[in-house]
Amino acid sequence: MQISRLSDALGVEITGIDLATAAGPEVDAIRDAFHEHQLIVFRDQKLTPDQHIAFSRHFGEHEIHISKKFLLADHPEILVLSNRKEKGEYIGVENAGDYWHSDLSYMTRPSLGSLLYALEVPPEGGDTEWANQYAAYETLPGKTRKRIDGLNARHTFNRFRNPRVHIPDHAKKNEKQRYEKISPDDAIHPIVRTHPVTGRKALYVSPRFTIGIEDMPDDEAQALLDELFAHMIRPEFIYHHKWRLGDLLFWDNRCLVHLACRGIPEGQIRHMHRTTVSGDVPF
Ligand code: SIN
Repeated sequence: MQISRLSDALGVEITGIDLATAAGPEVDAIRDAFHEHQLIVFRDQKLTPDQHIAFSRHFGEHEIHISKKFLLADHPEILVLSNRKEKGEYIGVENAGDYWHSDLSYMTRPSLGSLLYALEVPPEGGDTEWANQYAAYETLPGKTRKRIDGLNARHTFNRFRNPRVHIPDHAKKNEKQRYEKISPDDAIHPIVRTHPVTGRKALYVSPRFTIGIEDMPDDEAQALLDELFAHMIRPEFIYHHKWRLGDLLFWDNRCLVHLACRGIPEGQIRHMHRTTVSGDVPF
């Protein structure tokens, strides 16, 4: 197993490993690299859904996504992300990750990490970016760090309650009902989160899911969130990934945010399977 760095911001590539059979010391080494580098790229994997699920299980329990409509048949641990249509309907989540976010931060116990596996990759577009939120926190001006220490923010899954999220006209009616039906109660989390393993502090807000700050007038809260959202995605915090068929990426949702860059030309298909590992209540 060889480990090489991907960028100054975060991430390593691990080669010389078959995730279908990884076990024991190999998994321990992967876990250590995950905590040290926040994201791992594994290339050229050939995984069945059961093998993908079994590999993810080394890192914790699976979270079954609230979008039940897009769970893989007979494998509810897998969320399908896809722009393929059958009978005029998408067969997976088409707009997953279209704003910067950390997976499942709208839950009381958000995700530890996600494992996204590329089954079909378009020749053009469909890249993903991750931004390092340890670095984002550590480079905030001292007065901003003081201001946000001890503050809590409100997170929601419901796109319709977040003015920063654009809703296309065609989605306004049916999607509103669906989001209202499946969205859990808002989750309240510290704006500065301490990683339960590394002990490092990270910024834990995002334009996709964070809609307010507790005990702060809304105009003040939105201005502060805008400031944090602009800072947290500075270019030096970002790793940009161009997907290849067979890539499996495993990232830490407790200290990274990510964005699906989209830009897939009409007629090209991007089809992915994602498992999500449950995490702790943030503190
Ligand atoms: C996600 O937000 O988990 C999906 C990211 C992507 O599809 O690139």
